[in-house]
Amino acid sequence: MIEAGKGRNDGIMGKKKIRIAFIGGGAMGEAMIKCLSTKKVVVPQDMVVSDISPVRRKLLSREYGVSTLTDNKKAVAKADLIVLAVKPQNLPQVIEEIKGLASKQLVLSIVAGATLSSLRQGLSHSSVVRAMPNMPAQIGEGMTIWTATAETEQKQKKLAQTVLEALGKEIYVADEKYLGMATALSGSGPAYVFLFIEALVDAGVHIGLPRDMAQELVLQTILGSTRTVEKTGKHPADLRNTVTSPGGTTTEALLQLEKGRFRSLLLEAVAAAYKKAKRL
Ligand SMILES: NC(=O)c1ccc[n+]([C@@H]2O[C@H](COP(=O)([O-])OP(=O)(O)OC[C@H]3O[C@@H](n4cnc5c(N)ncnc54)[C@H](OP(=O)(O)O)[C@@H]3O)[C@@H](O)[C@H]2O)c1
Repeated sequence: MIEAGKGRNDGIMGKKKIRIAFIGGGAMGEAMIKCLSTKKVVVPQDMVVSDISPVRRKLLSREYGVSTLTDNKKAVAKADLIVLAVKPQNLPQVIEEIKGLASKQLVLSIVAGATLSSLRQGLSHSSVVRAMPNMPAQIGEGMTIWTATAETEQKQKKLAQTVLEALGKEIYVADEKYLGMATALSGSGPAYVFLFIEALVDAGVHIGLPRDMAQELVLQTILGSTRTVEKTGKHPADLRNTVTSPGGTTTEALLQLEKGRFRSLLLEAVAAAYKKAKRL
């Protein structure tokens, strides 16, 4: 429930209660429900989830106390905010089912590749927000980039922002073209980072470290390095140079990474993901 004078939503929607309907209660739908409940942005009684999976419905009502159903049309009937969180291939059917929304209702889609114009046209509805969150939203440490149709009212954008900032960091962009780029960088990004973590831990094990010790060393190294870039505001290359002594160990490792085209490989990987994102 979002109420004036109660927490982070002061002044956003006045005293009006906000009811949210989730269409799709999978990994991302659950992450949103969890963050919104934990951060007390919305109470479970004001959230309804429609999902075709009985397993998901049972889990979500048991874990978060939200009501669940299978009828998408019914789910959106009384909602102020409708979150579309199904896979891209299931979106056309959902759109057909929920068409005919009231003009005041806001649609927030997190479906990869679904553009504002396709959503707006399919739904015959003009108040639409398109967002690209990422998987660490599951622990409230997500990175979301979002945009909205020109017709979306200021207070509706505030509502979308309130919901998205419960997932972690959020950035609003006026130009939708950045959504596809963010899909390739921050949307898919956690997979690149998890692979990097896995490979680095394996490397530690390869030279003789116990696996749990290697993992602890790697995780804190990545966390500490991230915080250092944030806190110092220095260019990563400057910081790298301070760790790289002439003729030392780090430069030996960096030589191998450069030989393996580490940097250009990353560029090519992100560019390939972007190309695919544009085709979705
Ligand atoms: N996962 C990520 O890291 C991530 C990041 C950014 C954006 N996204 C976007 O978020 C969306 C959801 O991803 P996800 O990982 O949460 O997917 P997911 O775990 O598969 O969740 C989707 C849920 O919707 C259900 N569903 C399928 N068709 C439905 C219908 N017609 N009506 C109601 N529910 C239906 C699915 O049930 P069944 O499993 O039985 O089909 C499933 O429980 C995707 O479009 C994806 O592009 C995901």
